[in-house]
Amino acid sequence: MKSRITGQTKVLGIIGSPINHSLSPLMQNAAIEAVGLDFVYVPFAVPADGLCAAVQGLRNLGVAGFNVTIPFKTAIIPYLDKLSPEAELIGAVNTVNREGGFLVGYNTDGAGLLKSLAEDLDFTPKGAHVLILGAGGAARGAIASLCKAGVESVIIANRTRNKGEELLSCFKSVFPQVKLALSSLDVLGSSDLLHGIDLIVNTTSVGMDNTSFDGLDMSLMNPATRIYDMVYAPLETPFLSAAKAMGLKSANGIGMLAAQGEIAFAVWTGCAPPSGLMKSCLLTAVK
Ligand code: ATR
Repeated sequence: MKSRITGQTKVLGIIGSPINHSLSPLMQNAAIEAVGLDFVYVPFAVPADGLCAAVQGLRNLGVAGFNVTIPFKTAIIPYLDKLSPEAELIGAVNTVNREGGFLVGYNTDGAGLLKSLAEDLDFTPKGAHVLILGAGGAARGAIASLCKAGVESVIIANRTRNKGEELLSCFKSVFPQVKLALSSLDVLGSSDLLHGIDLIVNTTSVGMDNTSFDGLDMSLMNPATRIYDMVYAPLETPFLSAAKAMGLKSANGIGMLAAQGEIAFAVWTGCAPPSGLMKSCLLTAVK
């Protein structure tokens, strides 16, 4: 941990609620120390009704940049001065950078997912058929980044029918690859659709509490299907255990969490953290 904080030290942070369990301070401060920068990264707990005042405070205090997590990734947008094209498209911000006095919103989650898919699953988006479980903010980021990377088709399966259909209608004019929203997760059990899928991404919180998707029958899957679960605590969800039992290549969300942090770090500091450092910090912390 940084031993000398002075008037020159640049402050980075993360806002969210709850924030106590965030692993970002650990991995970002490790990267700051490894690169030898005069920065410090601090967690800020912001109450649900305190976002406007918090952003104003961060602005006035001259904070150099910050991450944004649940529940503010969408709500923060009106308080920023500018958005990157990616953040604008996704409709969510996880990284804010101060640029010439302006607060600029970025979304590094999608790029983090692509990096993790390549590194952890050896997955190539070009021409692939993808099934996305969920239709919230995390699904939006996953769909936009996968479509931009050249996937052939995207199917959305969501528990609540309307939300899946809303996402489909919002994205299909921008990305014609987004073809279908299934009316629920249960239809997957009886569908021959699964056989043609190259990648399934769980963007929901299912698995954090050791539950799984009842309707999803892993035995219907093509043996080459790759399974990605954005959940990283526990490291192995029942969804991942079922995939492993069927011999499918699978990965948890640790790689994405590390990769989105590496990209945010580069946005703030202009430097890349040492390769693998953030991921190894996370693995030590969640063991
Ligand atoms: P995030 O920004 O993290 O994506 P979100 O916008 O609240 O969070 O979206 C959460 C997603 O997880 C939603 O698609 C939600 O399904 P609903 O639209 O039906 O609410 C999905 N989800 C959360 N808990 C779930 C559960 N127990 N079973 C199935 N889907 C679940």
